[in-house]
Amino acid sequence: MQSLIKLENIQKSYFIENTPIPVLHGIDLSISQGEFVAIMGHSGSGKSTLMNILGCLDTSTSGNYYLNGENVSQLSPNQVANLRNRLIGFVFQGFNLLKRMTALENVTLPMLYAGISKTEQKKRGLEILKQMGLEKHANSLPNQMSGGQQQRIAIARSLANHPPLILADEPTGNLDTKTSDDIMTLFTELNKNQGITVILVTHEPDIARYAQRMIRVMDGRITYDGATT
Ligand SMILES: Nc1ncnc2c1ncn2[C@@H]1O[C@H](COP(=O)(O)OP(=O)(O)O)[C@@H](O)[C@H]1O
Ligand SMILES: [Mg+2]
Repeated sequence: MQSLIKLENIQKSYFIENTPIPVLHGIDLSISQGEFVAIMGHSGSGKSTLMNILGCLDTSTSGNYYLNGENVSQLSPNQVANLRNRLIGFVFQGFNLLKRMTALENVTLPMLYAGISKTEQKKRGLEILKQMGLEKHANSLPNQMSGGQQQRIAIARSLANHPPLILADEPTGNLDTKTSDDIMTLFTELNKNQGITVILVTHEPDIARYAQRMIRVMDGRITYDGATT
């Protein structure tokens, strides 16, 4: 079976005043459709750098990244944006909702970028909110909702274009334990019931345990890749 994600010897350096600061030192990784993967590691180990490359938000310095069989480094910026919009939903630690927009408007925003009509946007947006038990918040602004509700709205937004892949960087980092468990249960259901591939970064073992596979990153290298313990 073709991997959804395949990284071959991915290296990443940041350049500060023309001096390369190497951060990822040759990452090899394959992830199949339907997996639920937790990426763990200490602060500064390169987890977000890796996630940004996986999400096509940043490019590697060398190596190959195949997303759904396409060699991302050989695509134009437009093609990359298109691929990202079609294949990837993003969830962040700080929810990243637009403050002046209602929950429904936040959820439908990626559909706007995908060129979907206004009527269809509203229909689909309400459907997704309903699926997640959030329809009564459709017209609420982010600051009228709890952290857990805001993160659920952000997850609803990540599902807007029915992507096969969700990338979540520390999605429970700003939430209490009970709310974190609810959010992780939601990811588990999306993975189990809809076959969505979920890749999340966490530094909490209790959160990582929701995944089936764990990848440990240390100083820009994978030091463990196997079952969660
Ligand atoms: N835009 C950047 N420019 C320069 N250095 C960066 C940048 N982003 C991250 N770094 C550095 O790269 C290393 C890995 O960072 P990051 O991927 O954010 O780690 P993690 O998410 O595991 O905490 C750190 O040393 C960080 O300071
Ligand atoms: Mg990080």
